[in-house]
Amino acid sequence: MKPLRQLRLGVNIDHVATVRNARGGDNPDPLRAALLAEASGADGITAHLREDRRHIRDVDMEALAAGIGIPLNFECAATDEMQAIALRLRPHAVCLVPEKREERTTEGGLDVAGDDNRLTEYVAKLREAGIRVSMFIGHDAEQIKASARIGAAVVELHTGHYADLFAAGEMQAAETELRALAKGATLAHSLGLEVHAGHGLTFENVGGVAAIPELVELNIGHFLMGEAIFIGLGPAIEEMRRRMDSAREGLA
Ligand code: PXP
Repeated sequence: MKPLRQLRLGVNIDHVATVRNARGGDNPDPLRAALLAEASGADGITAHLREDRRHIRDVDMEALAAGIGIPLNFECAATDEMQAIALRLRPHAVCLVPEKREERTTEGGLDVAGDDNRLTEYVAKLREAGIRVSMFIGHDAEQIKASARIGAAVVELHTGHYADLFAAGEMQAAETELRALAKGATLAHSLGLEVHAGHGLTFENVGGVAAIPELVELNIGHFLMGEAIFIGLGPAIEEMRRRMDSAREGLA
């Protein structure tokens, strides 16, 4: 199929807060990073308010909601506390993720199929407030179908396993995982879901994912913040954008 529009780049700024919190104080400021990302061509800003507030804090979410001119994607666990914050801040989107206290990052996808009654009500409240709700899931058909059934507008497919295989040089297995992601994207799109992807994406591995035609958005954070140390955040975003666009050109 023809690619669906230009692929949007959502920049996740969590790790600006990680660096700030390592020392206490106010530097570096996540809002300043978000504004620089916006000026450098990001299409949206993602921030994950974790239950333990280990990086982004409530005041950061408020500053982002009030301060940026591009869509804010509020990533959180499906808890009552986070729902209340989202309903107050009214971000463009909420991305629901599983969260474990002991994990270093979001390890797996959400079990939508196993929690569909609760999530149907949870998502409905956000939707009624005009917020687009995204489910961060693996590429398995059961979770994709459940996401459509509970009324989510978007699924974000977890690319972490693909990224790990790619980094380990297991290119055949990475290719197989990429095909499974593509199959999941096709199914999700056929069910009327908007399809996003993210986790672990880098300059090296982004091309394969960006070439999946049904995708409309990638969310990328950790690699961009690391690269910002060497080449600056603006140039890192511009280079990621260039690689995403060139992978898309191959489809036309
Ligand atoms: N999408 C979701 C739902 C995530 O949880 C994360 C990590 O916070 C990302 C995208 C970005 O992943 P990374 O920081 O590895 O680029």
